[in-house]
Amino acid sequence: MTQDELKQAVAKAAVDHIAPHLEPSSIVGVGTGSTANFFIDYLAEYRNDFDGAVASSEATAERLKKHGIPVYDLNAVNEIEFYVDGADETNESLELIKGGGGALTREKIVAAVAKTFICIADESKMVGILGEFPLPVEVIPMARSHVGREIVKLGGDPVYRDGFVTDNGNIIIDIHNMDISRPIQVEERLNNIVGVVTNGLFARRPADLLLLGTSEGVKSIARPGA
Ligand code: 5RP
Repeated sequence: MTQDELKQAVAKAAVDHIAPHLEPSSIVGVGTGSTANFFIDYLAEYRNDFDGAVASSEATAERLKKHGIPVYDLNAVNEIEFYVDGADETNESLELIKGGGGALTREKIVAAVAKTFICIADESKMVGILGEFPLPVEVIPMARSHVGREIVKLGGDPVYRDGFVTDNGNIIIDIHNMDISRPIQVEERLNNIVGVVTNGLFARRPADLLLLGTSEGVKSIARPGA
């Protein structure tokens, strides 16, 4: 199977997982990226079974609207039962690196609100230790150099994502060669740097369920204790 076929398989599995729980008042949290896009396309088949969605990016909001799915501001919503999103890397504890598409801050906010965070990913995203994929950090533009220096002190190599502006008007620094053997600690240390909006480690709030696309089919992996 190609990587795209694996992404389609996990997107469909996520829709199959949430569809029986959808109610006319349900709001679905929707992530960003190519896997999330497949999810949106399958979710559209059920658009009459739920109220609408909260989007983690402008691009996702646009795709949802094209399918006729109403998009709500998060502040107008009381609760989100499910948040479904892809990842750039996951470990066996369902701690993630996200933000390859630069939407990490809004993704983290929607994930924080959701009762259940379902990560959908093809098997290439499963790693032993996070960090081969450069860790994205969203930064207030005027703090770029300061944050870069602080990242070097923490042992990472900061690379400015040239020409990229987030939906929030900020920049992204991608951290290469960072030791992420203790993801929660790294997540907290980076977030403590003044000027950092947030970073793409989802360790304090990991996924609850991982639907992993493999050549043997979609594996359903629940986070221990979730
Ligand atoms: C966007 C993300 C995406 O979930 C991540 O980059 C995975 O993307 P894809 O599904 O295209 O492989 O975090 O900010």
